[in-house]
Amino acid sequence: LGNGLGNTPPMGWNSWNHFQCDINEEMVRETADAMVSKGLAALGYEYINLDDCWAELNRDSQGNMVPSGSKFPSGIKALADYVHSKGLKFGIYSDAGSQTCSKSMPGSLGHEDQDAKTFASWGIDFLKYDNCENNDISPKERYPKMSEALANSGRTIFFSMCEWGSEDPALWAKSVGNSWRTTGDIQDNWDSMTSLADQNDKWASYAGPGGWNDPDMLEVGNGGMTTEEYRSHFSIWALAKAPLLIGCDIRGMDDTTYGLLTNNKLGVQGRKVKGDAGLEVWAGPLSDNRVAVVLWNRSSSKATVTASWSDIGLEQGKVVDARDLWEHSTKSASGQISAEIDSHACKMYVLTPK
Ligand code: DGJ
Repeated sequence: LGNGLGNTPPMGWNSWNHFQCDINEEMVRETADAMVSKGLAALGYEYINLDDCWAELNRDSQGNMVPSGSKFPSGIKALADYVHSKGLKFGIYSDAGSQTCSKSMPGSLGHEDQDAKTFASWGIDFLKYDNCENNDISPKERYPKMSEALANSGRTIFFSMCEWGSEDPALWAKSVGNSWRTTGDIQDNWDSMTSLADQNDKWASYAGPGGWNDPDMLEVGNGGMTTEEYRSHFSIWALAKAPLLIGCDIRGMDDTTYGLLTNNKLGVQGRKVKGDAGLEVWAGPLSDNRVAVVLWNRSSSKATVTASWSDIGLEQGKVVDARDLWEHSTKSASGQISAEIDSHACKMYVLTPK
């Protein structure tokens, strides 16, 4: 979407994966505090995004959405002001239907202009726009309406389309949203995460500045996967240029979670280039002929995973420095790079030709 936003995939935090409907203003303020005090903001995590369940079920007499009086007694504008005062951006959520998926608040279908103006008046920077209760109207009709309403709202707002990949948004959403979901909802387990990675990968060539494929938000830190599975999750999301929206409670995260979330230094659009019996190579080009590569063992036992230069677009004779992005060590390689990798774990390298 040509609104000047999303030149790189968005980074931040969203309430849904950890808190679902159990949200309130104090928790959000503390999350904004933690984003800054723990150094995540300095690494580029800038959005604090509310998801479903922030509003009252009924609009007011003028038809405006009303923040939940029990969860957000100070109102959304005050919360946005607080988040902005920390140097962060604030996002909100609505739905391209009559009600949101929780059915606890109204959707914006038929109220697009009014709601976009309300969000702008509160200082909202990011809108996630969900797909429940949509009366079977095509997303190609419903999402452009909100996109236009946001464009006319008087504020520049990142438009995150959450249409669950329906009608292949990569093919049509580039002029509508800054990101579009390519999948249904992530669950905090290995099968869900790997399946979403594959569904999203299909659309790799359609993503770029202003419009990104979104395989859903991060589960890192929520407890349903092993550390190595979370490392794979984070590595592949970073390589695929997915939005990096943290989905855990960052106020109390442990050092392992912190270490995973803070190792994102990659500006690459990569994809799966080889997958034999769960031994996969994901890779993509970087500037100066460098190559980013993930060796990923998705099989159920320890195995050697190998990327030949021909798999990843390097000339056969090239000698490279291979920087291990998780071990923070460098070794030399030529012709191929290979590693013995535990089940469900990965290695991630940047290869720099010598
Ligand atoms: C479905 C979306 O895909 C999720 O990310 C989340 O926003 C829930 N709805 C909220 O109800």
